Amino acid sequence: MSVLRLGDKAPNFDAETSEGKINFYDYLGDSWGILFSHPADFTPVCTTELGAAAKYKDEFEKRNVKVLALSVDGAQSHKDWIKDINETQNTTVNFPIIADEDRKVSQLYDMIHPNADDTLTVRSVYVIAPDKTIKLMITYPASTGRNFKELLRVIDSLQLTAHHKVATPADWQQGEDVVISTSVSNKEAENKFPKGFKEVKPYLRLTPQPD
Ligand code: BEZ
Repeated sequence: MSVLRLGDKAPNFDAETSEGKINFYDYLGDSWGILFSHPADFTPVCTTELGAAAKYKDEFEKRNVKVLALSVDGAQSHKDWIKDINETQNTTVNFPIIADEDRKVSQLYDMIHPNADDTLTVRSVYVIAPDKTIKLMITYPASTGRNFKELLRVIDSLQLTAHHKVATPADWQQGEDVVISTSVSNKEAENKFPKGFKEVKPYLRLTPQPD
């Protein structure tokens, strides 16, 4: 297993899932992707997480993001568990869950952290751009459910900054001011950011979020 880092090409793989066999790249197509692992089926935190991810279907679609979950349990277990998720979380799971019984994908994506747990996957999240490069990696412990609003927020930032020479400040939310990249001169900024900008310091210039 090689170490994956931001900017690396996300490794492709074939896998069995709750919805049949998939090829990762074919599944993603030209979309953004979110690949996230969870420790085990029929566990409480995971149940709430997959329910939350399913409820954000429209938000993921709006951002052109394909969702793919993973655990090391089998496909039939996933299918049985999905019934519980739908019932208890009042939703319909609308994305495949990889049945990574042989740990092939977990190892490829470094989702097993042996000093946390020898065999189960931790809560890893990868966000992958349409060119298949890894744009975000976050790892949560088994005891902490993820914040899916935060993941959507980061995807908003990634999609904005892919198209404009800006970055998003701490706690930024969609529609708030952004910072101009330091590689942009003030002269260039006048053309690139017609809504204007405020220079707090030469390296800290705020501008309304570009369209
Ligand atoms: C859970 O999803 O609740 C969970 C799974 C594995 C370890 C701890 C918690």
